[in-house]
Amino acid sequence: MRIGIIGAGQLGQMLGFAARDLDIEVRFIDPTDNPPAAQCGKVIQSPFDDPVALIALADTCDVITYEFENIPVTALQLIENIVPIYPPAAALKHSQDRLDEKKLFAELGIPLPGYHAIGTREDIDEAAARLGLPMVIKTRRFGYDGKGQFVVRTADELDQAWDELGGQALIAEQWIRFDYEVSCIGVRSIRGEVAMYPLARNIHRDGILRSSSSPFDAAKLTEKASEYVNRLLQHLDYVGVIALELFVSGDELLANEFAPRVHNSGHWSIEGSETSQFENHLRAILDLPLGPTTGVGFAGMVNLIGEISAATRAQGVGELHDYGKTAREGRKLGHITVVADTAEQRDALVEIVNSSVT
Ligand SMILES: Nc1ncnc2c1ncn2[C@@H]1O[C@H](COP(=O)(O)OP(=O)(O)O)[C@@H](O)[C@H]1O
Ligand SMILES: [Mg+2]
Repeated sequence: MRIGIIGAGQLGQMLGFAARDLDIEVRFIDPTDNPPAAQCGKVIQSPFDDPVALIALADTCDVITYEFENIPVTALQLIENIVPIYPPAAALKHSQDRLDEKKLFAELGIPLPGYHAIGTREDIDEAAARLGLPMVIKTRRFGYDGKGQFVVRTADELDQAWDELGGQALIAEQWIRFDYEVSCIGVRSIRGEVAMYPLARNIHRDGILRSSSSPFDAAKLTEKASEYVNRLLQHLDYVGVIALELFVSGDELLANEFAPRVHNSGHWSIEGSETSQFENHLRAILDLPLGPTTGVGFAGMVNLIGEISAATRAQGVGELHDYGKTAREGRKLGHITVVADTAEQRDALVEIVNSSVT
C-alpha cells in the first residue's frame, strides 16, 4: 500500500510520520529542493500541475491526497480516473474561492459574516455602504496567512484598497469584532464514519496562527461547530480531515473559512489526542476504522515563525517539532506542543513557551 501526497511541506512531513507508524509508504510531488517531507519518502520534484509527474504518482500509488489547497483542480482531473483522490475535488474547488466557499456556507445554513463580491472600484463603495466600516477586502483566491487582505477602516482608505488589490477577483467581508477564534477539525472515512476533535481556540497575529489550545471550556460551542462541520462533510461526500475556522462572538459562531486538509490548528493532536489528525486522515482515506479523537489532557501548540532561536530550543518545555526548513521571515519553521492535566497548567506552559518565542 502506498499513498501519494501532493505537496511535501510540513503537513506532508507529519502525514509521512503518521504513515510510517501505520507501516504505509508515502510518495510526494513538490517543486522545491529538499522539502520537509523528503525524509519520509521519495519526492518527485516537479510543479503540482505537471501531467507527466502527476501520472507517474498516480501510476505508482493506491490513493492520492494533498497537503495544501492551491493545486489546480484540473491537475486532479488529469488523474482521477487512474486512482482515487481524497478529499474530493468538489471540496477543493469550494475552498479555493472565498466567494464559492461563502455561498456554500449560506446554502448549508452555516452562519457567516456579511460579504459582497468585488469586481470594480464601484463595487467597493457598494460593499462599504452595505457592510459598513471597517470591512476587510480579500483576494478570492490564493490567500494564506493573512496575505492578499486589506482592512478598510475609514472611507479615505477605499482607493488605497483598490490600488493594492484591484485587478483580480475580490470579496469584501464585514469586519467581525470577535471575542476569539476557534477551529473545528472533523474527519470522515470512505465508509462514512465521522469523528470530531474537541474545538481549538486559536490566536492569530498579523493574520498568521500563533497558538492553538484544545480543549477549552466551550461545550455548547463545540456542539454547534461540530454540527456545521458535519453538514460540510455530508454535503461534500467528504473523505479525510477537514478544518473549519470560526469567529466566536458571545454565543454566536460565524464561519470564516474551511481547509480540505490537515490543519495547523490541529497539530496539538499529535501529543494531545489518542489519535492525531494525521493518522485519522490516513485512516479515513484508506477506509480503516477511525481512531478515537478523545483528548489525553489539555494541549497547547505554539508556532515557531521566522526563526527557532537558541532560547526557544533551550527552554525545555513541551515537544519541539522542527520541520527542517530554511529560516525566513514569516515562515512557519516548527511548533512546540505542551500537554497538561488542567487548562490552567496548559495556559501557564503556553505562556512559558511564548515568552521564549519572538
Ligand atoms: N471578516 C473578518 N473579521 C475579523 N477578522 C478577520 C476577518 N477575516 C479575517 N480576519 C482575521 O485574519 C485572519 C486570517 O484571515 P483568513 O480569512 O482566515 O485568511 P487566511 O486564508 O490567510 O487564513 C483570521 O484568522 C482573522 O484573525
Ligand atoms: Mg484562515
